[in-house]
Amino acid sequence: MAYDTILVETSGKVGVITLNRPKALNALSSGLIRDLGAALDAFEANPDVRVIVLTGSEKAFAAGADIKEMAGKSYMDAYLEDFITLGWERVTKCRKPVIAAVAGFALGGGCELAMMCDMIIAADNAKFGQPEINLGTMPGAGGTQRLTRFVGKSKAMDMCLTGRMMDADEAWKCGLVSRIVPLDDLRDEVMKIAETIADKSLPIAMMVKEAVNTAYETTLAQGIHYERRVFHATFATDDQKEGMTAFIEKRQPSFTDR
Ligand code: HXC
Repeated sequence: MAYDTILVETSGKVGVITLNRPKALNALSSGLIRDLGAALDAFEANPDVRVIVLTGSEKAFAAGADIKEMAGKSYMDAYLEDFITLGWERVTKCRKPVIAAVAGFALGGGCELAMMCDMIIAADNAKFGQPEINLGTMPGAGGTQRLTRFVGKSKAMDMCLTGRMMDADEAWKCGLVSRIVPLDDLRDEVMKIAETIADKSLPIAMMVKEAVNTAYETTLAQGIHYERRVFHATFATDDQKEGMTAFIEKRQPSFTDR
């Protein structure tokens, strides 16, 4: 299917969504969010796609929600349409692993969108920020909550109150991104990571993802309890038998997603 604001392709077992509004630095218009949701629905339903990569251009992952679209909204517009709730949270509902490959600007809603993914791989030119305060507003797609959980209160306050940007190195040091790679290698490196994950058992990868995400929603004791139960459940799978047998037989496992 063709979209106006994104490009969609599959490469082996990996589905790639590229945000594509270059003239607006991939500002996240309502049309783009709709397209993104439809593309994610399609990849989630496609059994050949095992991992999803979300990326932008070399200059911008996304420079935020579309300010030109948003500027004239009234309070009632925002309230009645529940502005940004519908569609925006779609990426957080994905059951397959989603990797954000971020080059250039990831600002405002762009930073929030990247944080909704399961991990962020940054190019060395990446810049992250929550500059909404400069526009007389504030993060509205989870920035005050997810950034705080990623980097802690002091740095989240610093970012959200000053509106400054942090570079890739700072983002890596504070745990916002898992790896930094040279800009020219971003696509290849992210595809390697995605393919590594795609070669695992998909249901086990989905269980791991759910368990890690549960860490953000529960107390430690509840999270450990949840992890223990899901860990037990892996012993009901063929893939656990295959994985451990392959190790003992000194060969690569051949997972069947069962
Ligand atoms: C609409 C945007 C945009 C945005 C850039 N553009 N960001 N349009 N919404 N968020 C457009 C510019 O208007 C311009 O269009 C073109 O993209 C290129 O941008 P420039 O500013 O000329 O580029 P540059 O000088 O390189 O500066 C890059 C930049 C700057 C530092 C990223 O564009 C910038 O500050 N953008 C806004 C960042 C921001 O405040 N994001 C938060 C948005 S609020 P024209 O037509 O003039 O060429 C938000 C709220 C989230 O995200 C809450 C819920 C989702």
